[in-house]
Amino acid sequence: MTIRISPSILSADFANLERELGRIATADLVHVDVMDNHFVPNLTLGLPIVERLQQVSPVPLDVHLMITDADTEAPKYAELGVSSVTFHLEAATDPVATAAAIRSNGARAAVAVKPGTPITPVLAHLDAYDMILLMTVEPGFGGQSFMPEVMPKLADARAAVDASGLDVWLEVDGGIAVDTVPQAVRSGADTLVAGSAVYGGDPESRIRDLRDAAQRALAGR
Ligand code: DX5
Ligand code: ZN
Repeated sequence: MTIRISPSILSADFANLERELGRIATADLVHVDVMDNHFVPNLTLGLPIVERLQQVSPVPLDVHLMITDADTEAPKYAELGVSSVTFHLEAATDPVATAAAIRSNGARAAVAVKPGTPITPVLAHLDAYDMILLMTVEPGFGGQSFMPEVMPKLADARAAVDASGLDVWLEVDGGIAVDTVPQAVRSGADTLVAGSAVYGGDPESRIRDLRDAAQRALAGR
């Protein structure tokens, strides 16, 4: 299993995003949180800024849409050439069709579920997705505490993905830090989003610490 670290720029300096991207060049991806103040009670950035981030980022963009108009908006982000577009299951009326539209616009298609949302409907259509994002906090803000109660759902997803033989990545987002990485990785996560844990210190050493913690957990899995 390959571990990927995806720092979230939600915890970066929004006045210096190009510089902040340069500080995480050793990461595998960069996680970009798009919030619309409707799906979540917070507002961040949208298409024009993601377009510029895509042009200057040293690592591929992992776009996480926390917006209500998932079906119509998600394909527009895929068109920008980003690596992956994740929309929320709770916001989509036809998630399988939305995922197909993302793929046909050239990005990996991913679906996210909030901590309390069952994953069964996603697992029933596994071949529609390239990644599943399991939120380990309620979406909306950085710096919240990891919710270990999501781990059984993550383990179910890992079992389903392994049984399918499909290359579906399992991403966790929220409260990921050196102390919570072991349980996430042991429960099956391979793609780790971390905002405050990366930008709360020297990003390069924080990324290295997260990667080391993940590799150690993987070895003991
Ligand atoms: C929260 C966002 C996360 C956030 C994570 O809704 O989706 O990506 O940046 O922040 P931390 O890692 O600080 O919990
Ligand atoms: Zn996120």
